[in-house]
Amino acid sequence: MVELAFSILASDFARLADEVASAERGGGSIVHVDVMDGHFVPNITFGPPMVKALRPVTKLPLDCHLMVENPDAFIPAFAEAGADMVSVHQEVCRHLHRTLQLIEQHKMLPGVVINPGTPVETLIEVLPMVHYVLVMSVNPGFGGQQFLPLALEKIAYLAELRQEMGLNFRIEVDGGVAHDTVGRVVEAGADMLVAGSAIFSPGKTGRNAHEFLQLARAAEAARKAQEV
Ligand code: DX5
Ligand code: ZN
Repeated sequence: MVELAFSILASDFARLADEVASAERGGGSIVHVDVMDGHFVPNITFGPPMVKALRPVTKLPLDCHLMVENPDAFIPAFAEAGADMVSVHQEVCRHLHRTLQLIEQHKMLPGVVINPGTPVETLIEVLPMVHYVLVMSVNPGFGGQQFLPLALEKIAYLAELRQEMGLNFRIEVDGGVAHDTVGRVVEAGADMLVAGSAIFSPGKTGRNAHEFLQLARAAEAARKAQEV
């Protein structure tokens, strides 16, 4: 079943608990937390204290997307703060296998992320140990960017590999996923849909989430019909 992982980066931080509640009411089922360090990406956001603040306000899983140079140094703090899922960028991990093990040892679900310029092939050896693969459909750093269609082929390729290798990792997509792009993303095979600017809007967040999920579910039904 496809899920909406709403990115709080696009929310009103001064009203964060209400923003999360609105997205959740609209059907969002994962909280996507974009952690940026100003080195790996040209922007700074938030870290474990934000996760700690979110933990008591929602029961939804907290999906932490680490856009940082040295994720190993922060994994224990994210676990301590209450994160459920942690994804790390292939591009920064010199010992990707070890980093994914570290996430697992801290009882969180490990994910691996690839930038638009990074090929899927770089992940083949770690696919059996990840709970999800995150395909970036923009260059990370900012919300509100335009969707890069090259992500579609990568999603389809990952879905194919998943089947060939007999695995069951999930495929997440992040960046420019909105009402006009979500159909293609789901048809390609994605099942966790990150969206920020398409969801958060004063007074409309719940409705945006609901309509987004309706489009996603229609595309999922079409995809399943093709599979049979
Ligand atoms: C980009 C972040 C995204 C971002 C998505 O670096 O990883 O999660 O918040 O925002 P939208 O949906 O606005 O593209
Ligand atoms: Zn993200």
